[in-house]
Amino acid sequence: MIEVDGVGRSFTVGRRRARRTVHAVRDLSFTIEAGEFVGCLGPNGAGKSTTIKMLTGILAPTSGRLRVAGFDPTRRRTALARRIGVVFGQRTTLWWDLPLRDSFQLIRHLYNVDQKVFRARLGALTDLLGLDEFMGTPVRQLSLGQRVRGDITAALLHDPAVLVLDEPTIGLDVVSKVALRDFLRALNAERGTTVLLTTHDLGDVEKLCRRVMLIDHGSLAFDGTLDDLRATVPDERSIEDVVARLYTEGAAPSPPS
Ligand SMILES: Nc1ncnc2c1ncn2[C@@H]1O[C@H](COP(=O)(O)OP(=O)(O)OP(=O)(O)O)[C@@H](O)[C@H]1O
Ligand SMILES: [Mg+2]
Repeated sequence: MIEVDGVGRSFTVGRRRARRTVHAVRDLSFTIEAGEFVGCLGPNGAGKSTTIKMLTGILAPTSGRLRVAGFDPTRRRTALARRIGVVFGQRTTLWWDLPLRDSFQLIRHLYNVDQKVFRARLGALTDLLGLDEFMGTPVRQLSLGQRVRGDITAALLHDPAVLVLDEPTIGLDVVSKVALRDFLRALNAERGTTVLLTTHDLGDVEKLCRRVMLIDHGSLAFDGTLDDLRATVPDERSIEDVVARLYTEGAAPSPPS
């Protein structure tokens, strides 16, 4: 479902003599099979969001090759849009001044979803995510957690084969977080939707992801199961301690798979 082959992305920042190149992602390679649920960890600035932007066609890579659902994301962005759902926890893709209900209708038109199918899907999603009472509220008046739930609903209205989430649990209260995790787990198990998420909440990874990738300085520092990850620093007790150690000291090479 996702193929990343030797991908790099750099940015030129600063002006004149202060100009320099930031290598946000360098020589990144991994594949994700259909139906997998993968969590992506990494310290701030590691290159996670940049990777997700390349996977969704928002940013072009400066080197290497990507395929998502068989498409080159930057060249076939429209075709890919029908197969992929994307949520940026930090930023909404909804219309700021529109009630949620109208945003969802617009999305129905954009993706040309059959009215009946749309109604059933929206009904199910709003029930599961507890959005019913906010359908008439403009997005700008929603709390962070309510807005994220709106964004997740919006990303799933066209029933994508792959769902990419950049910090979806940011700012969610405990109850919403648990509900969202249950929801994502069921989506993956029952519909077979491929899920890739980034998070700073290790609970997300522990509760959801069979596979964990750790990105550090733009490269893949670890790719394996959570148990494998724990085993890289055997004397640490909690997963938080293990990950903190890997962030500060650098990850050991991934075990052979
Ligand atoms: N548009 C841009 N122009 C210049 N530099 C950028 C741009 N986008 C990202 N970067 C730089 O690329 C690096 C990776 O950023 P990225 O947003 O991918 O990190 P991240 O892993 O998502 O971090 P966080 O956990 O804080 O969200 C950082 O050094 C960042 O400053
Ligand atoms: Mg980020």
